[in-house]
Amino acid sequence: MDKKTINIALAGFGTVGTGLAKIIRENKSWIERRTGKRLVIKKILVRDLTKVRSFVPDPDARFTSNMDDLLMDKGIDIVVELMGGIEEAFTLIDSSLRSGKHVVTANKALLAEKGNELFALASEKKLGLYYEASVAGGIPIVQTLKDSLAGNKIKSITGILNGTANFILSEMTSKGLDFSTALNAAQENGYAEADPTLDIEGIDAAHKLTILIRLAHGADYPLGILPIQGISRVNAKDISLAGEFGYVLKLIAQVREKSEHLQAGIFPALLPCDHILAKVDGPFNSILLEGNAVGPIMLYGQGAGDLPTGSAVLSDIMSLAKDNSAIDNTGFKENILPKAQIVEPELAVYRHYFRMSALDKPGVLSAVSGVMGEHNISIAQAVQKPGPEGKNVPIVFLTHRAQLKSVYSALKVIDKFDFITAPTVHYRIL
Ligand code: NAP
Ligand code: HSE
Repeated sequence: MDKKTINIALAGFGTVGTGLAKIIRENKSWIERRTGKRLVIKKILVRDLTKVRSFVPDPDARFTSNMDDLLMDKGIDIVVELMGGIEEAFTLIDSSLRSGKHVVTANKALLAEKGNELFALASEKKLGLYYEASVAGGIPIVQTLKDSLAGNKIKSITGILNGTANFILSEMTSKGLDFSTALNAAQENGYAEADPTLDIEGIDAAHKLTILIRLAHGADYPLGILPIQGISRVNAKDISLAGEFGYVLKLIAQVREKSEHLQAGIFPALLPCDHILAKVDGPFNSILLEGNAVGPIMLYGQGAGDLPTGSAVLSDIMSLAKDNSAIDNTGFKENILPKAQIVEPELAVYRHYFRMSALDKPGVLSAVSGVMGEHNISIAQAVQKPGPEGKNVPIVFLTHRAQLKSVYSALKVIDKFDFITAPTVHYRIL
């Protein structure tokens, strides 16, 4: 932008909006040195004008609860959408682009659901629609895929993309906290979405994976058919048993490419303690990528919170402030990305963990291992926990690599045995 002052309208002044305003104030002269521009927050859109704010913005900024105050202001160069939600955020971004303003957003839910439409509009208007903060908070993964790794065919992405879920699992593992105490702590720290179901049911991670798939593969994997399993039903017993076998439980987002076809999903999985992602704890996120030229790369950092996320939002604002002649929103020239070619999710091959609840009586192990054999599942390790004869005991199996389809068919048979007292718990092993 030619102007010396870049006027920003901030839509949302919660965790991320406040974080962004703090960094703009704190790093003011540094930002000016890098961009040659002064960033001024001119308007702040909130829902509740009476709310007492934890941070007082500069006097240039005027609070409003009327979206039109942002849209009608011809002096605004960039609208920064940090409200969350779908409908109103869509209206704001769509209208901002139509009124000639660049947009920066952290709203992964909106981009996952309606990104194609908004990117097409931004491209038609030759405006920026930037979203570094939408995936993995402070980690610069969007820019990395769009620019730094643009020449690579990405073979796989395996990520811990939800800070709340990772925080909950870490607290359950290291402190033995129960699920709801750990979730409360994540909410108090500002990691969780306004609706934490999105975090614990894997939907937030799915939103982020959808965005990464677009950036890495230039293809649209519809959210509605992405297999998603969250952590709300994780039992502390499995975390502890996994630990005994040398594994930790993590919520994983994964996409693997083979012959131009994609296999993707969100699922809790056991990672060996020496796996590079196993030590990613608390609200931290990490992304492990494999490019066909660069090989493996791992990025690690804070996936949520005011300043880390604000840092990513600021990087987009600064890119636009510095040079908007080279706008690149999706990393691809097509206005609308093609649909991904998808491998049937049940054809995916992994190692597996099963915890069965069975009555301790003759023939149990041979019946269960027989079914596994019939389904081409090879047992790598089996341990039955001691208990009184005839009573319920946990039996844990770790398997060699087997197709998910075989696992699901085998478990259907096994769970019908009269000595099986509860549905078998199953996790993949990475
Ligand atoms: P938040 O703390 O709940 O703040 C939301 C802000 O938006 C509040 O200031 C609220 O106003 C305002 N707002 C919401 N709906 C509005 C509406 N319809 N009209 C006007 N103002 C409205 O949310 P957040 O955690 O900062 O998250 C913001 C966005 O960033 C979301 O898309 C989220 O998914 C994304 N994100 C968050 C994080 C994180 O660590 N929190 C990380 C990455 C991405 P009031 O203050 O008056 O209620
Ligand atoms: N609720 C999200 C998380 C915020 O926990 O990762 C960052 O996107």
